[in-house]
Amino acid sequence: MNILELKQVAQAIVAKQKGVLAADESSPTIKKRFDSIKVESTEENRRRYREILFTTPDIERNVGGVILFDETLRQSTKEGVPFAQLLSSRGIIPGIKVDKGAKALAMHPGDKVAEGLDGLRERLAEYKQLGAKFAKWRAVIEIDEHKIPSNYGIRANAHALARYAALCQEVDLVPIVEPEVLMDGAHGIERCEAVTSRVLEAVFAELDAHGVVFEGMLLKPNMVIPGKKCERQAFAQEIAEATMRCFYRYVPAAVPGIVFLSGGQSDVEATENLNAMNAMGKHPWEVSFSYGRALQAPVLAAWKGQESNVAAAQQALMQRCKLNGLARDGKYSRGMETAG
Ligand code: 13P
Repeated sequence: MNILELKQVAQAIVAKQKGVLAADESSPTIKKRFDSIKVESTEENRRRYREILFTTPDIERNVGGVILFDETLRQSTKEGVPFAQLLSSRGIIPGIKVDKGAKALAMHPGDKVAEGLDGLRERLAEYKQLGAKFAKWRAVIEIDEHKIPSNYGIRANAHALARYAALCQEVDLVPIVEPEVLMDGAHGIERCEAVTSRVLEAVFAELDAHGVVFEGMLLKPNMVIPGKKCERQAFAQEIAEATMRCFYRYVPAAVPGIVFLSGGQSDVEATENLNAMNAMGKHPWEVSFSYGRALQAPVLAAWKGQESNVAAAQQALMQRCKLNGLARDGKYSRGMETAG
């Protein structure tokens, strides 16, 4: 393990003004996104869409890393340049999603656990050869009124995250450890904070027990936020304060960066919330973004599968990257949304 290299890659991904573009939608997920704009999910359409994202002018100013899906890491531009090479040549670090999705946890109704550990060492070696410098694993934690997540459900996910993260560091890939407490449901912000606290505590205990070096990883968590169906929604300031309180308690300062997922927030909400956290002052870790939907929703809406819309789609991506780059510094304001 080359700790210095791991540290440098992790720090470069969350360099000032930069965050991560999550473009690692699995085939069923990208099909859902394409269905919403009435585009067929063929291999060529998926390739073209990702090519539009990765060739967008100027995004390297605000995007330090891009997460790819297995199929995408093997695809190229129409001129034949592999996407990983294209991104690297622009100073953007390519990475790969390596979990194989969340499945029902046996004997624990409602809990899920991510699969994909079998054969992971061999897969990581291949991804490295294909140009990946980091790897992401998403654990999904659902909340209901009382019973889930169970303590065992949390432990099982934390254990799998630690197994994957250690395998990554063994071959000098930076693990982006993603325990996602879902915002589906009617729970309040307090319950999200309580569950996120238990999850983070368990995840760092398992990472530590497995010998994972905190300096050479990034954390990709949910924000502390009310469930989508909760009657009392929260303002950005409340979300920022609850999130930072929780993370100050449970995330070691040795971790170089926290890159939040958007998880179903609107693009503007995700930017506002990130901004509010950074406006609170300097934190022990870089506080940044690793958004999928919150960066791509306006791009898909502008593109609609039409070549004539490519410039507008890229403009939409540039705009969101720029605004989130400002939110990284607490310098974003709502008025910038229409200023273009
Ligand atoms: P969202 O920002 O859309 O939640 O996606 C991020 C991600 O990578 C989920 O695994």
